[in-house]
Amino acid sequence: MSKYNLRADAAQVIIAVIDKGQSMAQALPKAQSHYSDGRDKGLLAEICYGVMRQLPQLDTQVRRRLQQPLNGKKRIIHGLLLAGLYQLKHTRVAPHAVVAESVNACRTLRAPGMTGLVNGVLRQLDRDLAELKAEQFDADSVQFLHPGWLLKRLQAAYPEQWQQIAQANNAPPPLWLRNNRSQQSREQAVQALSEAGVSARAVEDGDAILLETPCDVTQLPGFDQGALSVQDLSAQQSAHLLPVAPGDRVLDVCAAPGGKTCHLLEHQPLMAEMVAIDLDPKRLARVQQNLDRIGLTATLKAGDASQPEQWWDGQPFDRILLDAPCSATGVIRRNPDAKWLRRDEDIAQLAQVQTEILRAIWPLLKPGGTLLYATCSILPEENCEQIKAFLQETPDAMLSPIHQQDVTTRPGWQRLPEENGGDGFYYARLNKAAQ
Ligand SMILES: C[S@@+](CC[C@H](N)C(=O)[O-])C[C@H]1O[C@@H](n2cnc3c(N)ncnc32)[C@H](O)[C@@H]1O
Repeated sequence: MSKYNLRADAAQVIIAVIDKGQSMAQALPKAQSHYSDGRDKGLLAEICYGVMRQLPQLDTQVRRRLQQPLNGKKRIIHGLLLAGLYQLKHTRVAPHAVVAESVNACRTLRAPGMTGLVNGVLRQLDRDLAELKAEQFDADSVQFLHPGWLLKRLQAAYPEQWQQIAQANNAPPPLWLRNNRSQQSREQAVQALSEAGVSARAVEDGDAILLETPCDVTQLPGFDQGALSVQDLSAQQSAHLLPVAPGDRVLDVCAAPGGKTCHLLEHQPLMAEMVAIDLDPKRLARVQQNLDRIGLTATLKAGDASQPEQWWDGQPFDRILLDAPCSATGVIRRNPDAKWLRRDEDIAQLAQVQTEILRAIWPLLKPGGTLLYATCSILPEENCEQIKAFLQETPDAMLSPIHQQDVTTRPGWQRLPEENGGDGFYYARLNKAAQ
């Protein structure tokens, strides 16, 4: 019999995130490595991601059943109950299996004295399930499953749409593919998928393909050869918004894992050079893996974007993509743990980093060149306010509007999560005055 118990692993991951500040990306793969069956890995991910999405409601409903809070070493049992209630409310796992497996997990977690409590609380929760599912909560942060500070920011920025945005953040995301137009047309790609029994459709102009049902993408026709890549619809806009001509020198700042680097190269194979930089050498290795899979070439440099003197060779660039580090508030549906890992004070710090990178990178752009600023944030401080301030302080920077409402008083293009099924993203395009 395996020494691992999937519910015990789920509890460990949940507590690592909510109490110890680890990301799911750090905590989950280690727990998944205990299982060889893909279905077990999938169920573990579903439980952990689900708990992150639903945390305030699960937490409120579990706490009410406890005579005393589970603190200190008993916190892991709290995690186990959160996972248990999530399974009861939101999955098809049979209730008796949820209870039995959670009770067994107490033993794996070396807490045999907690079996009675776990058994009793989960049975009670199961009895009251219909009521628990229908419950409405007074506090917006519990009802809409967001931390209070973030909800306040969303309410201030989007007085009409904040509820819709919160709901979109709470829904599991669809799986998007990017067709490699230098290898095949999008129609050919959809046809090949259909012949392989995969239901998919083209969305918007461009290269995006929506898969009707998520699947193991590595098995898709052409994936190994780089004909298809995984990339969200909104993230795919950068290659359309930054036109690159043959012979151009292009800089991709904050490039890892390289989705946009590869897309730009697929669009313009005749560019003179693509230089991709990122602070994190480990993440930069993933850029190389993506380039290799697709058969593309770029010059990769590890370095701090706000210190170009460390890595720049002094040759200016025709085009720059700056996909700035950000709050990732546009991709919460993909990373629901971010709701509990981010803090209100992070936003001002991130905005400061973005300002420093923008100021440091601008001199690397040729006169007459174009810079595309992008974030996967939906907060104005990181987006339109950032660019508005930059335009005011930079005499040779001019807004190159993306659409009619893209004006210097409110620059850029803000996509909200779920618009056409894509993530929340922001783009602003700036031209540098010709000398
Ligand atoms: C949003 S991700 C970039 C995604 C990437 N452009 C893509 O499309 O695949 C942000 C990246 O910024 C990098 N980063 C953060 N601070 C940085 C800095 N000061 N200089 C360079 N890269 C930085 C992070 O390591 C991370 O890989």
